[in-house]
Amino acid sequence: MDLKIRPRRNRKSNSVREMLAETRLSLNNLVYPVFLAEDPSTQNEIKTLPGIHRWGTKKALDHIAEVWDSGIRAFDIFPVIPDSQKTPGAEGALNPDHFLIRFFKDFKQRFPEATLFSDVALDPFNSDGHDGLVKDGKILNDPSVEMLVKMSVLHAQAGVDFVSPSDMMDGRVGAIRQGLDEAGFQDTGILSYSAKYASAYYNPFRDALDSAPRFGDKKTYQMDPRNALEALREVRLDIEEGADMVMVKPALAYLDIICQVADLSEVPVAAYNVSGEYAMIKFAAQNGALDEKRAALESLTAIHRAGANVIFTYWAFQAAKWI
Ligand code: PBG
Repeated sequence: MDLKIRPRRNRKSNSVREMLAETRLSLNNLVYPVFLAEDPSTQNEIKTLPGIHRWGTKKALDHIAEVWDSGIRAFDIFPVIPDSQKTPGAEGALNPDHFLIRFFKDFKQRFPEATLFSDVALDPFNSDGHDGLVKDGKILNDPSVEMLVKMSVLHAQAGVDFVSPSDMMDGRVGAIRQGLDEAGFQDTGILSYSAKYASAYYNPFRDALDSAPRFGDKKTYQMDPRNALEALREVRLDIEEGADMVMVKPALAYLDIICQVADLSEVPVAAYNVSGEYAMIKFAAQNGALDEKRAALESLTAIHRAGANVIFTYWAFQAAKWI
């Protein structure tokens, strides 16, 4: 063939391919989610999240030490609350003696250089399994925001670096920013779950916390998977309200949203490679359908290429050994 242009020349060898790679994963971009249980010695693998455990408060610190040593620098903590401690008013979220709050302090003492994220939403504490307060089957916005502000201040007091509202109530980022500032926590940041979709991919996470909604679904606050416009609107509002980072969640079914958000956002964009996305590859690999390492790294690379600089992923620890 009389071909002047042959793109394969740029793929001819490993050294050429490495030279021309446009996207590189770095451990500095990964955030490792940790499920925290109260009983210090708990170590309990989650059936639908193979390789991921609920860790007791002592075991969690040991596990995090190992993950830290592997090169991962950021962590997000989710408390596993026994049913007997869940209440309709989610009061546990505001308890300053809660094992979660004590754990934040222990964490910062042991790992002062690590970046600590905390999830701000009521679902782990709420007997309804919803992210906000519920009345007559409705999820209330403004009273929920009031609680989320108090919860954020409590987390900031305990040393959290970035509170991460994952609840999708309106106006919570601005209210949390004001609450943090009034309490003297100007340096505590907000990573907002700005574009969080009502997704089927959260089920293994809800297994981990036993936090599935006890009635209905989350569609009046989490977004409609058919929409992109409302993602851009939510992101714009959160930036105006003072978010330091914005997040798109889930990641893989929403790469187009990550890409559009990255084009518009003037703050760093994060994405949450959620539990169901992890589980799909894990179970496929366990059954011989996929190579886990290649599929996982391809997924993380795609999320990064789409425009997310910060990636929350259950693969963080394993990726540290692969990268
Ligand atoms: C709770 C919360 C959820 C996730 C993170 N924070 C679940 C939900 O909204 O129901 C999901 C994370 C995952 O699936 O890995 N507000």
